[in-house]
Formats: sequence, C-alpha cells, structure tokens
Amino acid sequence: MATVAKLFETMEYGPAPESDAPALEWIRQHDNGRFGHFINGRWVQPTAGQYFETINPATKAVLARVAQGSPADVDAAVAAANAAAPGWAALPAHARARYLYALAREVQRHSRLLAVLESLDNGKPIRETRDLDIPLVARHFYHHAGWAQLRDTEFPGYVPVGVVGQIIPWNFPLLMVAWKVAPALAAGNTVILKPAEFTPLTALCFAEIAQSAGLPPGVFNVVTGDGATGKALVEHPDVQKIAFTGSTEVGRIIRKATAGSGKKLTLELGGKSPFIVFEDADLDSVVEGVVDAIWFNQGQVCCAGSRLLVQEGVADRLTQKLRARMEKLRVGSPLDKAVDMGAIVAPVQLERIRGLVEKGVEEGAKMWQPSWACPTEGYFYPPTLFTDVSPAATIAQIEIFGPVLVSMTFRTPKEAVELANNTPYGLAASVWSENINLALDVAPKLKAGVVWINCTNLFDAAAGFGGYRESGFGREGGREGMHEYLKAEYETRNAELEMRNDKVGVEEPEASISPSEFRTPHSALPPIDRTYKLFIGGKQARPDQGYSRKIVAPDGRVLGEVAEGNRKDVRNAVEAAHAAAGWGRGSGHLRAQILYFIAENLATRAEEFAARVGRQEVDASISRLFTYAAWADKWDGAVHQTPIRGVTLAMNEPVGVLGLAAPDDFPLLGFVSLVAPAIAVGNTVIVVPSEPQPIAATEFYSVLETSDVPDGVINVITGTKDALAKVLAEHDDVDGMWYFGTPAGVKAVELASAANMKRTWASARGRDWLDPRQGEGREFLRRASEVKNIWIPYGE
Ligand code: NAI
Repeated sequence: MATVAKLFETMEYGPAPESDAPALEWIRQHDNGRFGHFINGRWVQPTAGQYFETINPATKAVLARVAQGSPADVDAAVAAANAAAPGWAALPAHARARYLYALAREVQRHSRLLAVLESLDNGKPIRETRDLDIPLVARHFYHHAGWAQLRDTEFPGYVPVGVVGQIIPWNFPLLMVAWKVAPALAAGNTVILKPAEFTPLTALCFAEIAQSAGLPPGVFNVVTGDGATGKALVEHPDVQKIAFTGSTEVGRIIRKATAGSGKKLTLELGGKSPFIVFEDADLDSVVEGVVDAIWFNQGQVCCAGSRLLVQEGVADRLTQKLRARMEKLRVGSPLDKAVDMGAIVAPVQLERIRGLVEKGVEEGAKMWQPSWACPTEGYFYPPTLFTDVSPAATIAQIEIFGPVLVSMTFRTPKEAVELANNTPYGLAASVWSENINLALDVAPKLKAGVVWINCTNLFDAAAGFGGYRESGFGREGGREGMHEYLKAEYETRNAELEMRNDKVGVEEPEASISPSEFRTPHSALPPIDRTYKLFIGGKQARPDQGYSRKIVAPDGRVLGEVAEGNRKDVRNAVEAAHAAAGWGRGSGHLRAQILYFIAENLATRAEEFAARVGRQEVDASISRLFTYAAWADKWDGAVHQTPIRGVTLAMNEPVGVLGLAAPDDFPLLGFVSLVAPAIAVGNTVIVVPSEPQPIAATEFYSVLETSDVPDGVINVITGTKDALAKVLAEHDDVDGMWYFGTPAGVKAVELASAANMKRTWASARGRDWLDPRQGEGREFLRRASEVKNIWIPYGE
C-alpha cells in the first residue's frame, strides 16, 4: 500500500486536468464554432466567405473555423476605426480610464475561460495561462487605465496618433492583445487588431469582453486572417501607425512597406538572448532559472534565454544538474495542471525545430534529451540541451523558437560580454552571479533592452519591454510605451498649415519656417579663397575623391567651396564615431561641461556667425546648446514600481552611433538642434549639414576644435544630403538615423534602414526650429536614447 512517506519519495502523482467544457461550449455558442470578424462593435461575416480552421496542437482536434480577412474586410474595419476615432479621442481622460478599468475587470471576471481557451488554442500549459498570461493581461489594463486617466497631465502637448493597426504573433496570443491594445486605447487611438492565424480565439473572446465592457463601436476591431490580411492592414492608407510583434523577417517586410508613408512604426522582433552564468552563481537557482528561460512556453518566447553562456569552472557541474532536472520535467496535456511543458503551436513550427536540431547535430554539437518519450498524439517536442557548440554554429545564431538550449563556455567577464553580444539581436539578457558588483558591471555592457539579474522572463506593465538592433525598436509598457501611441500636437498643426498653404499656392507655411537668408561678411577686400574640408575623428580631412562643390548665394556670389563626401568618407566617419564610444560611458557632468564650452566658444564668435546666418539663429543656437548642457546631467532614468521584491532600473542609454541629416533651412540652428541632444545623451554622431547652406556647419569645426570635444564624437560630412543619408541609413554599424528633408529622402532612409533594422526618425514636415517647443527638449532626448530595464530582485 502506498504510504505518504513513499509517495513523497517517488513524487508520483496522477493527472490534474482542468475541464475544457466551458471553453468548448463558448466556441459552440458562436455559430457552432464559426467566427466572423469583429467590426464596429458586432460580428460580421467575411466578404469573400472564406474561413480557416484553428486546431488544438495537443490533440490535433479542430477547435473552430475563423474568417480569412480580405482587403475589403480590412477596409471595413479601418473605416469603422476611422469613424470612431474623433469621438474616442475627444472623450475626457477620465472616461477612457473608466473603459480601460472595465476591460481589466472583465478580463478578471472571465479569467478561467480565457486561460483554458488559450491553452486549447496555443498548446501552452494551463499553469502558465492561469498564473502568468491572464493575470498579466489584467495588470496591463489596470496599469493603462492609470495612463488613460493621467494622459492630459502627463503628456501635455501630445495627441493620439489616430487609427492603429496591430499585428500579433501566436506565442502569447492574449498577452500580446493587452500589450498592444491597452496603451493604444489609453492614449486615445482606435484599433484594428489582427491576431495570428494559429491562435485567434482569445482575441475574439476579448472582442466580446470589450463589447460587454461597453466600449463604443469601432474603437476596437478584430480582423482575423493570415499574412495576407496583415499585409492589407499594413498597406492601408488610413492607418496611421503599425505595431507589430513577430519574426524579424516579417518585421523587415513591414519596415519596407511603410517606408515613406508617414506611418508610425514599432517592431518587437526575434531574439537569441544570452543567459550568462558566472562561477559564483547559485547553481540550483540557475537550474530553475534555465527552466523558466527556455522551457517556459516550450521555448516559444521572443526573449527566451536560448544561449546558455557558462563560466568554464562550473560548466560540467551545471550540465549535470540541468540534465537531472530535464529528466524530471513533464511534457503532456496542456490542460493538466501537473505538466511543465505543453505542445508546440503548429506542425510547421515543430518541423522548424526538428530541422534546426538536426543541423546542430550535423555541425558537430553534442545533443542531449531526457530518456522519457513525449506524447505522440499532438505536436510535442522534448526539452533539448546542446553542449560543445561553436559560437558561429547555426544553432548559436538563429532563433530556434522551441525548447532547445545551446550552451557555450567563457573564461572572463569580458569574454562573456563579447559572446553575449555576438548576434544581430538585442532583446534581453539574464546574468547570474552572487556578486552584485560583477552583475551590475556587466548589465550596461549587454546589447539588450531588458537585463534580468538572477532572474529571468519577468514582465510588468510598468517596465518598458523591447529591443535593440534586429530585435526591433520601440518599447511596450511604461511611459515609453505610451509615447509610441502619441504624437506632438504641433505636428498636426504644421501639417494643416502646409496643406492650407499648398491649396492657396503659397510655398512656405505661415509659421516662421522660412529658410534663413544667405548672408556673407561684406568687405572691400577680395575674399581669401576657401575650401572647407570634412571633419572626421577630430581632424579636418580631405574628401576621398578630392572633389568639392561651390556654394553660391542667391545673388550669384560664390561663398566658398565645401568637400564632396562619399561612401568611403562615411565609412571613415563611422569608424571614428565607434572609436569614440567612451563618450557615452563618461559622466553627464562632463558632457554638460563640453556643451557649455561649445556654447561659450560660439558666443565669442557670435558676430562672425551672425553675419552669415543672422543674429537670431546664432542666439537660438547658443541657447539650444545651453538647453542640452542643462539636460546632460538630468536625463535620468527611473526606478519602476514593478511587483517584485527588488528594483527595476530603467536606464537611459545612448543609441550608439547616430547618423544625422540636418534640415536645409536654419543652417546653424538645424545642425546644433540635432547634434546637441544626440551628444548630450552620449551618442557619437556623423552629421550631414544643410546641403544648400553648409558653410555655417563647416565654420563650426573650429568652434568644436577649441571646445575639448573628444575626437570622433562629432563628425561632419558635406555633400549631397540624400545620397549621404542613404549611405548612413544602410550602414550596419550605424545604430540610428535622423533625417530632416524631402519626402523622397524620408522614404529612402526608411527603406535603407531595414538592412540592420536601425531606429529612424525621418521627417519631411516643416518644423519651426526657432520655437523651443518644436526644436528642442524631451522629444529629441527620447529619440537619442534606448531605455534599458534592469531587474534586480533582492533579499537573502
Ligand atoms: P510571423 O512573423 O510570420 O507572424 C507574426 C504575425 O505577422 C502573424 O499575425 C502573421 O499573420 C503576420 N504576418 C505574416 N506575414 C505578414 C506580412 N507580410 N505583413 C503583415 N503581417 C504579416 O511569424 P510566424 O511565421 O508565425 O513564425 C515564424 C518564426 O518567427 C518563428 O519560428 C519565430 O522564430 C519567429 N517569431 C517570433 C516571435 C516573437 O515574439 N519575436 C513571435 C512569433 C514568431
């Protein structure tokens, strides 16, 4: 007979299944399992009459049939969102807050149904949907009910973007609904959501929840379908913003498709996140951390700790412990509360995992799987560990998106950082050490938007989530996340001015955005012929091809010649900017001192510059330099109120090397307005000054040379602005690009940026650079920063 003591020893226990009956009944009640789109507050059948099946990956049973969205369906949803937009945006903040609060309450009320439905449709264990996905969904709506309430006071001067298209993946179907929809609605936008084709059910259930929460028709719409439906949404002209989570491959397609369209864009893409274990780490905690990092959600997690980097001394011991733990993991029915891992979402994903594992074995890595077998009736894959992996191996570089961990070793912290950063991604990282000094020294060096210290896969609405590099751009959650769904009010005002002026045939908008006149010092003596060089690595440099171009005033006088920069010059400047990366590691105080010094040196030559560009512009430039000197030691991060026993530090970091293409008008002020915020935050820059009026910028070299600016922090390349901007936007070692110029230039920069998915800020809109509300401040500082969230639990 089994005694308690014996049971304790073997830990054998039976299944603890959650009932699927209420969820299946909910499906049945909807036209016997046939779902239309949710448009304008009601269910509508697809115009083309096409449906596809969604299946339970643990049993292969068909769960429901779902509408395949055509361009006409997308059109109808966009029209509904458009019609609802003015009313929703005009609601008092408090009214929107009540709606978001109602959504949070409704999610909690239906949490059991949502948890089961999610497990059925996706294959993830009920333990995860019940304890993590759904509570986080509710938390997200509560948090954003707060932002809705505070929108007007915390984001003065900002308005909603308008109609937003949101495309989400299948790995956290309802959580991604929340991450996308909550901030969009809180900010006052209306939404068309396209769920992933493998997992549409909880989004549809949420549509019904929105209906019962009384959300006005058209504010939230769901159009189901595959990539073609997503494409129609991305390309729709009446959509003002696209928010996407999914593969880097599709992210790149969307970046290209939206280039030059004026649509705002955020992309949350793939990753190959490092999980770094130093030899003083608590290895038993590490083992549980690894379980959460790579076997949570069957490893189908964009920020999964999929690369285990272990310090050599403890590698063997950790491998042994991991294998022992893997042997005890349970793979099985997702509805069984005693199961650790459920099913892989779809056969295509299972095949992808199998293929990559085979490739790993072929390439010589050592593969290990537990001795037990997975259930055979569904799409299951066992936890898998690779050792002896070379850093260049396919499985060390490519996102597997499955329960497969690749492990490598390192000797020193420096080597760990190099290995960690050795992928094109930059989403998340996890660092394990009992030495907090070491962990906090390593965290800022990791190219990742999130760093978890002695923990992993923690998320909260208060802390922004998102990546660098090929992991995409933009943040979800927190204050940063709200900014992704807002735009400055003056943008609309300026656009309206431009349109009105276009109509009456006036070329310049009323606001004082007129290009400053060409002015030159007048003298009785003939001028000394002057050819301005490029400014690279702190030195005036001749252009690669030796060409220069004449700069001619409107009255025909030759003002001077400037160097004609080319691709090679840009390459040299990028190298110089990288070599100056220490600038970002220095103190804000030091950067402030140097910005003040630049201002001081410009002030002593104010008359000379005023003769060229006018006094007003010089004075505004000096003031602007003071603004960013002021900000340099005040651009603080935050300590977020996340529900952990510990702290979550949001640190503002420089983006890295920024390419800046300055506006053509305001030759001095436009130049200073971009350079000063970028370097105040710690970036190093390559600037292309005003193309018709570059001389104020080239004269500025001598101001820089006397201001202690370290070599390579500011590099200036004159020449054809759009051509140079494109080269910068294409360059893999440029981390971000700002461009102010023509619509064609904006498009070219956004297209070219898709190569390494760099962040761009490109505008062809008029901007009154003299107005401090438009020409300086937080917007510029935000564009110059990446926010890194570092999670540090504490306590013995
Ligand atoms: P995917 O990127 O194709 O799908 C994500 C969403 O984008 C889905 O809603 C899909 O319908 C939509 N979509 C597809 N093509 C589109 C297009 N041209 N325009 C607009 N929307 C489009 O991801 P998929 O195929 O489901 O998974 C493939 C791989 O992507 C996975 O193995 C994994 O490596 C990665 N992935 C990464 C995710 C992440 O969170 N970072 C999430 C899902 C997948």
